[in-house]
Amino acid sequence: MSSQNLSPSRRSFLQLTAAAAAFQIVTEPILAAAARTRRPAPKDGVMIDSNENPLGPCQSARDAISAIIPQGGRYLDNLTDDLIHTFAQQEGLNPDYVHAFPGSSPPLRFAVIAFTSPQKSYVTADPGYEAGVHAASVAGARVVNVPLTKTYAHDVKAMLAGAPDAGLFYICSPNNPTGTLTPHSDIEYLVENKSKGSIVMVDEAYIHFTGAPSTLDLVKAGKDVVVLRTFSKTYGMAGLRCGFAVARPDLMEKIMDRAGWNFMPITALVAASASLKDARLVPERRRINATIRQETFQWLDRNAYSYIPSESNCFLLDTKRPGKQVIDAMAQQNVFIGRIWPVMPTHVRITVGTHEEMEQFQAAFQKVMRGTTAFSLQPGRSGEIPTPRFLPT
Ligand SMILES: Cc1ncc(COP(=O)(O)O)c(C=O)c1O
Repeated sequence: MSSQNLSPSRRSFLQLTAAAAAFQIVTEPILAAAARTRRPAPKDGVMIDSNENPLGPCQSARDAISAIIPQGGRYLDNLTDDLIHTFAQQEGLNPDYVHAFPGSSPPLRFAVIAFTSPQKSYVTADPGYEAGVHAASVAGARVVNVPLTKTYAHDVKAMLAGAPDAGLFYICSPNNPTGTLTPHSDIEYLVENKSKGSIVMVDEAYIHFTGAPSTLDLVKAGKDVVVLRTFSKTYGMAGLRCGFAVARPDLMEKIMDRAGWNFMPITALVAASASLKDARLVPERRRINATIRQETFQWLDRNAYSYIPSESNCFLLDTKRPGKQVIDAMAQQNVFIGRIWPVMPTHVRITVGTHEEMEQFQAAFQKVMRGTTAFSLQPGRSGEIPTPRFLPT
């Protein structure tokens, strides 16, 4: 790929040195772009590599954005208060426990930096969402990677045993990339048995795709828990940027000491408020995602392909060969699938797209696996597992 084709900002974003990367908030689109072999991805590509929601914002959110445009010259901080109050009221939370950010990536990073250090380790699942690992490396913290259980839940007992020096336990439920849940009772066990001074951060980015109970009750009960929420997934607002951290004010203060304070984009604020008030949005989108995911699983079953059953908008597909080869071959078919986790090198992550996108995925995957494309796969050859070159390892 030639970097000539990229805009200067995008080129520099992909070519950061490890030192410069220390100052970057690592996010899903950065990780997805780093794993892509064709950059920029063509405009007509099937993009199922970043766990985005192809439905975008709901109609009332779109209307709210249009209506606020004339006021784009104002900071309008009251809109942040409105959003926080709406969310707090719906969830039975004290508004002082909620802070809005442009996405949940900033509080994820700053919580890791606040609660880990060379003496306080960062404990996470493997495979798990990588953003916190990069933040921990900035904090100089030891990273304790703990394999998932046989049912692909976080192994909370092994997490506790592996890190008596823990500063922060990161739980992502449903997990990225497996789309599997960790039972609420396991998270409670972790909270009750962790060492004093450590915190549990529960990333609920994908929770609305499931009917699973949230851990906001643990925050309400005053526990050492930070919950992250985002509007990027079920609400389809990844490009608009809005998310929350929810925690006891003393914990939030530590995060805010690192994060600093800034205004939120008013388009994101009004779209998020409108989305929360749309009572049909979550059940409808959960149903759409589950239907398309199930159709995809049925197709994989009929064709004897293996995958890890998921409750979210992504799942891991076992290609039985170095996954990188399949990612590259799929890109040649204009279908961009997600990255590999080194601990499971034959698995690739697939995002659940629209019905049409998943049909294109199926056609391309069948061709690639049957070896009927010009781009040949080489079964059995050990593939290189990519480490994005701009990220510290
Ligand atoms: C597990 C997880 N947490 C947090 C995020 C952050 O998303 P955003 O910054 O768009 O809210 C993502 C994005 O994909 C994610 O997968």
